Amino acid sequence: MAVTIKSEREIELMREAGKILARTHEELGKELKEGMSTWEINRLGDEIIRSYGCIPSFKNYNGYPASICVSVNDEVVHGIPSKKRILKEGDIVSLDAGVIYKGYHSDAARTHGIGRISPQAEKLIQVTKQCFFEGIKYAKPGNHLNDISAAIQAYAEKFGYGVVRDLVGHGIGEHLHEDPEVPNFARRRKGMKLRTGMTLAIEPMINEGRLDVCWLDDDWTVVTEDGSLSAHYENTVLICEEGPEILSLPGCAGVV
Ligand code: MF3
Ligand code: CO
Repeated sequence: MAVTIKSEREIELMREAGKILARTHEELGKELKEGMSTWEINRLGDEIIRSYGCIPSFKNYNGYPASICVSVNDEVVHGIPSKKRILKEGDIVSLDAGVIYKGYHSDAARTHGIGRISPQAEKLIQVTKQCFFEGIKYAKPGNHLNDISAAIQAYAEKFGYGVVRDLVGHGIGEHLHEDPEVPNFARRRKGMKLRTGMTLAIEPMINEGRLDVCWLDDDWTVVTEDGSLSAHYENTVLICEEGPEILSLPGCAGVV
């Protein structure tokens, strides 16, 4: 699929989708507490998304059975919500959600701590978030995709963390996953030149330990091979003339 440049009308719809997704994350994040099941998180998230007139894009996507991916501790991404999985103090939980508004997608993820968490876990969450912001410093027309990827990797590796290789960010728009791929690690090729009107889901997935991951038998849940903690942070970003506009984080328009 070719990379698409979004029209002003499409950008407006993606701004609205992003705003709704940002609110969804804010509201859902406040509900998290010890004793809650990951199934309950999904139920609430689904309800919030629909209350804004959006469709949860993950539900039934390639057979994924829920609206919110809930990944706890050593789960990297795509955790399947379950009534049996109960949050406890000290857990870290990444919530990944996608919405469709009038045919246009937004995709974003946040990692939260439950109650008091270890300083190491807190640091992993903060560094993963900062990886995103380090990457988007390069999200400007004329730069190359690899500039974003290399900045994310370099920042994570300063802390000795493992940058997941088996999953990448992506273009987004009328589809959840569009070209180009947006890796969180450098490649020799510079990759595509960034242009005004491109929309990308940039999503560092960072392990406290080694970068290797494996898939559980449910065919979805990705876990760290060494059992170390993993965090995820993602936003939908528009490349503008002046720099990035973070669509799923309203109030952050313009150069960051
Ligand atoms: N943010 C994830 C991604 O881009 C969400 C997809 S999960 C699925 O791959 F459940 F929808 F598959
Ligand atoms: Co994504």
